[in-house]
Amino acid sequence: MKKIMIVGAGLLQSYIIKRAKELGYTTICVDGDPNAVGFKYADYYKTIDIVDEEECLKYAKKMNIDGVITAATDYGVLTVSYIAEKLGLIGNSYKVCEIIKNKYLVRKTLAENNVDSVPEFYEIDNIEDIDKIKKDIKYPVIVKPCDGSGSRGIKRIDYIDDLKFACKKAMEASLSKKVLIEHFIEGEEYGVESFVHNSDVHILSIMQKTMTKPPVYAELGHCSFSGLDSKIESEIKYKVSKTIRALGIATGSVNIDLLITKDRDIYIVDIGARMGGNLIGSHIVPLSTGIDYMGNIIKESLGEPIDLNRTIFDRVIATRLLALTPGIVKEIGDMKDIQSSDYVYDLVLKVNKNNIINEYRSNIDGCGYIVVSGEDAKVAKDRALEIKSEVDRRIIRY
Ligand SMILES: Nc1ncnc2c1ncn2[C@@H]1O[C@H](COP(=O)(O)OP(=O)(O)O)[C@@H](O)[C@H]1O
Ligand SMILES: [Mg+2]
Repeated sequence: MKKIMIVGAGLLQSYIIKRAKELGYTTICVDGDPNAVGFKYADYYKTIDIVDEEECLKYAKKMNIDGVITAATDYGVLTVSYIAEKLGLIGNSYKVCEIIKNKYLVRKTLAENNVDSVPEFYEIDNIEDIDKIKKDIKYPVIVKPCDGSGSRGIKRIDYIDDLKFACKKAMEASLSKKVLIEHFIEGEEYGVESFVHNSDVHILSIMQKTMTKPPVYAELGHCSFSGLDSKIESEIKYKVSKTIRALGIATGSVNIDLLITKDRDIYIVDIGARMGGNLIGSHIVPLSTGIDYMGNIIKESLGEPIDLNRTIFDRVIATRLLALTPGIVKEIGDMKDIQSSDYVYDLVLKVNKNNIINEYRSNIDGCGYIVVSGEDAKVAKDRALEIKSEVDRRIIRY
């Protein structure tokens, strides 16, 4: 029985841990949270901060693993490549992952390789440096932590006077204390999930994204049917493939966010060398394509044959994050009828009695997910929103 190490054992990783177990592998998990839900499905686990590369490596060596992966979190990506490189396992190179973990270096690499180029982008690691550049900047810009995720610390800035404060906030949200200031791209947002095998890029899904209203830029949901014409879908596939090659990603899953302007220009916004979060990898891709996405990720890391053939073609899947009305939870009503409804694939509720529900500003404020199917994108998305609102109504607050 081969042993696979999974870096991160939170809710979004628990699906891949379960899949590895179903496939008969021994699961070895690490997470900084001693109560991580994924530990329940692990054969062996240890509480280690997943950004602590040395400690994770030590444990990997001790357990004599055959493969190492992460899923749905950017924080595990560098650690996985570190372990893979040190132990001679399949993975992306550490150097490649270092670039991908820094949004400024990604911008730079894509510009240098003529893949994608926004009019302006700057990296700041000292707040005082802003005074030197702020007059040269053409507004609006977006400010974000270079190593951020889940839309934390992101703000659109329209006026010069607001720049410094936004950079301070973004810096606070950054582990590396680096901030990216870049041109604000006006457009519709899409997510693209890809898989790299033998250096070939396979596009698994192009998804519509529903985002919060500005000035907050957080994900609210995805829909598996892009609604785009085949010409622009081909352009997306071409651009995504070029992006992945330019960055040097050689194996496994890739999660990309992009924006399409009204002139049909495509801009890459965000890239992760890992499976998409917010149930993209665990639910949307497998339910809408029939591809055993998580199984493939596991097998790829172990050097076993994979199968990316699509078997489902006409099922539209939409998710909605449970961005709920703020308050303190007094009681949670019965949700059984929702869970058992024909078109509901999953309802994941993360709140309990006496929990505080915060105003939804980033992923961490989400209270769970709803996953539904529909005859077309509009039906599926409306349905997901409707059920989300019903879940919200059934939660009684003090
Ligand atoms: N240059 C940009 N122009 C317009 N919107 C952007 C830009 N960069 C990011 N955004 C918005 O902010 C969101 C979060 O940014 P992203 O780089 O994906 O950060 P994270 O890693 O936290 O997901 C994006 O999904 C998008 O809606
Ligand atoms: Mg993103």
